[in-house]
Amino acid sequence: MKAQKAFTTNVLRCSFPLLGLCHGNVNWIAVGDGPSFSLSSSNISYQFHVDPMTLDLIHDHWGAYAAEPVPDFNGVISGWGGPYTYRRREFPDLGRGDFRVPAIHIQHVDGDTVSAFSYTGYNIAPGKPSIPGLPATYGSEDDVSTLIIHLYDTVSDVSADLYYSIFPRYNAVARSFRVTNNGSHNITVMRASSWSIDMPNEELELIDLYGDWAAENRVNRRPVVYGEQGFRSSAGYSSQFHNPFLALAHPSTTESHGPATGYSLVYSGSFSADIERWSTGWVRVLLGLNPLHLSWILPPGETFSSPEVVSVHSEQGLGGMSRSFHSLYRNHLSRSEYTFKPRPPLLNSWEGVHFDFDQSSMIKLAQDAAGLGCTLFVNDDGWFGTNYPRDNATLGLGDWTPNPAKFPDGLGPFVNQVQNIVVRNSSARIQFGLWVEPEMVNPQSDLYKEHPDWCLHMGRHNRTLQRDQLVLNVGLPEVQDYIISVMEEILNSAPVQYIKWDNNRGMHEMPSPSGSHAYMLGLYNVIDNLTTAHPDILWEGCASGGARFDPGLLHYWPQSWTSDNTDGLERLQIQFGTSYPYPPSSMGCHVSAIPNHQTGRITPLAFRAAVASMCGSFGLELDPSTLQQEEIDALPVIIARQQQINPIVINGDFYRLALPDKSNWPAAMFVSPGADSAVLFAFQIRSSLKPLPAPLKFQGLDPNAKYRVSDGTWERSWSGSTLMNTGLGLDWPHSDYQSFILTIDRE
Ligand code: DGJ
Repeated sequence: MKAQKAFTTNVLRCSFPLLGLCHGNVNWIAVGDGPSFSLSSSNISYQFHVDPMTLDLIHDHWGAYAAEPVPDFNGVISGWGGPYTYRRREFPDLGRGDFRVPAIHIQHVDGDTVSAFSYTGYNIAPGKPSIPGLPATYGSEDDVSTLIIHLYDTVSDVSADLYYSIFPRYNAVARSFRVTNNGSHNITVMRASSWSIDMPNEELELIDLYGDWAAENRVNRRPVVYGEQGFRSSAGYSSQFHNPFLALAHPSTTESHGPATGYSLVYSGSFSADIERWSTGWVRVLLGLNPLHLSWILPPGETFSSPEVVSVHSEQGLGGMSRSFHSLYRNHLSRSEYTFKPRPPLLNSWEGVHFDFDQSSMIKLAQDAAGLGCTLFVNDDGWFGTNYPRDNATLGLGDWTPNPAKFPDGLGPFVNQVQNIVVRNSSARIQFGLWVEPEMVNPQSDLYKEHPDWCLHMGRHNRTLQRDQLVLNVGLPEVQDYIISVMEEILNSAPVQYIKWDNNRGMHEMPSPSGSHAYMLGLYNVIDNLTTAHPDILWEGCASGGARFDPGLLHYWPQSWTSDNTDGLERLQIQFGTSYPYPPSSMGCHVSAIPNHQTGRITPLAFRAAVASMCGSFGLELDPSTLQQEEIDALPVIIARQQQINPIVINGDFYRLALPDKSNWPAAMFVSPGADSAVLFAFQIRSSLKPLPAPLKFQGLDPNAKYRVSDGTWERSWSGSTLMNTGLGLDWPHSDYQSFILTIDRE
């Protein structure tokens, strides 16, 4: 029997411009069939148009520069999908026959979930409007231009405004949207993917970062196949399980060649990344809030704002993509005054003494730190609690007053004593830093006894403990006020110069799915308040290591603790993975004792120190009184050298030369703006007789310049072209866990 003729859809061709109008890097082009939009710079283009029949937005191109709008598929697609299934959509809604995962899913008062957003107009905003209550990239008119597309669902009286901002210098486009309920009944936003495009049928690989505690940001690369592939955090925070980042690249794309597009969600809560390859081969890319943690009720007259996704495109491989993210995030995401400043080498008390200390042993630790050349001493967990003294993890969270048994005179006199300690070989005094975890409460605390309802909980469900603690519901205004006021009390009681803000568990037993997003808005309010009031404090984020290493918090805090895993070898992998979206300048990395507390591995001090020196914030995480004399002698030299190279680690362009999960000789380098100087880190994991290491090919130098290369014991000169094209053979000792730090200076 003859097959029944399938439903046929004509996919309209996007016409070419008849007349154009340009504002900064946003082009609006009036065309015969309907408007078409192009956000372009010399390297990138983002293009879409309005389907004149349906007034739906059709995605045309996101990638390398294209001079004019790209014609959409120009033929007829036969099939049984609904009419919107065979279109490459820009803002896919639900219920009108697009059978792929939608970007927006709204439930209306009668329970239906059909939306019908149609184009009504656009405007162009100078610079970049901020997103109410949420962290976002920012910039002046010279840095960024914003196109706002207006859509309306006339049946439901809901409007949507899509924000597209192009940062031409960084090959980046940021997207977010706002939905306003103009009707007379509540609506519920069930799903909100800030980024959504339908890419053409191309060979693609998906790259993302997965992991766990002490195993953060492992790189996962796999082909994009038919069906759905994705990952998410349902932990209430961005999490160590998956980072809110992905990249799509051609299978041939390497670190330095080929197309790569990165997507990074500026948010610290639950998120979802959904990649769907449809029968046409088209690939839908969605990144935004996790629908399991949304169900956001929007009353009449109110607006819901999505967080933004920043996407960068590079034709210089994954390395080029990372460098764009790094410079964009340092220049236009981070708002800390420390972003471009060298960071003080610190000693953190955690792995050295855990909870086992008092005032005099802390002062001794600070003296030892200063004696080694550290300029910041950090008192980690264990300093607070009166009725429930924080002598172990079961007690005291929530009671942010100094433990009188440990600090009989309070924090102020203790901090003053620390700040009187002179740093080795200088007249400077050591600075003081403090650990806090203000979003949490132990049931064994005065705070919990007083406010048992302040923690996230649901009716008679068990209040499940993790690390013996519960999560305060930071979505509640009274909890936000409490956190701000206890933090202010701490900061008023002592001249603290650095804060490590920890967060050691995920959220469960939430009163409603939207509690997670309300929490994030509350947390951003708290942090915005405190960092605005105390810009001179160096803030470091932490969440059991790197469980909240995300762009949302990097907006407020210039650095984050990368992992609790301080083993040099494992740490290399974690740091390289983290560097896909995040600049090494934002990573905190410490040298700890051996055998390593997490893995038991023994590696040489020089190796651990070289690994930690690759990060913006270098530190020690050990008790110096347990060190061997040769380690005590070596550390001041190590710290002095680390301080010499720190400015270029903070400001330089980062090149991953060889990857730790692929090579026995991983290496990376930082190159200063203008390529006048560079620093290269090279490692040998295992001593190996054969094969020999590949020559180390430098990147980012001026090929015509002569450079002086030195490891501190030898010095030679080569031209940039030789270093980049022939490469250098390093003379590796026959020993495991070896390292070189080379400085490279233009002659
Ligand atoms: C988890 C952090 O990742 C550690 O560095 C340390 O601060 C502990 N919490 C303290 O409880």
